[in-house]
Amino acid sequence: MVLLSGPNLDLLGEREPEIYGYQHLADHVAEAVDEGRRLGLTVEHHQSNHEGALIEEVHRARKRATALIVNAGALSHTSWALHDALVAFDGVVVELHLSNPAAREPYRHTSVLASATDGMICGFGGLGYRIAVNAVGRLLGLAAAQTGVAAKSVVPPAADSVPRPEGWA
Ligand code: DQA
Repeated sequence: MVLLSGPNLDLLGEREPEIYGYQHLADHVAEAVDEGRRLGLTVEHHQSNHEGALIEEVHRARKRATALIVNAGALSHTSWALHDALVAFDGVVVELHLSNPAAREPYRHTSVLASATDGMICGFGGLGYRIAVNAVGRLLGLAAAQTGVAAKSVVPPAADSVPRPEGWA
C-alpha cells in the first residue's frame, strides 16, 4: 500500500505540537509500517509539499498498489485535482488526519477528498496511522486485520486519558 503525506507534514514534531503532537512524521510512518508488517502488507511512504507531486504519486500507485492512505494536509480542503486523481485509483482509499478537522476552524470542516475515499480516520493523533492500515486490511479482507490493531503503539490508548465514572461501561 502507499501512504501519502501532504504539505507541512514534514514539520510534524515542531509544527503546532499542541494540535499535532511532538512525534515526527517518521514516527507515524514507523507505526504504519509495523501494522502493515503484522498484516502482511508493505507500506511505501511519500511526502511532498507540492500538489502536483502528490497527484503523480497517486497515478504511480495505479495498477501497482492495493490501497492508498492519504493525509493530504490542507489540500484535503481545497484540492479537487487530488480528488480526481483518487477517483482514478482503483483500490481502497483511506483519508487520514491526526486532528479532528470537524472540531476545528470552519474551513477545515469540508474534505473535498472524502467522496473519493472509502472512509476517513481522524482525531486519534498518531494512533490513526495504525488504525488506517488496519482499516485497509479489513477492507482487503485480511484475516490478521480482524483481531484489531496491534497493542504496541507509541501513543497511549485513548481510554487511559478519558476519565470514566465508576461503574460506567
Ligand atoms: C491535518 C488537518 C489539516 O486541516 C491540516 O491542514 C493539516 C494536518 C491533520 O492531519 O490533522 O496540515 O491533515
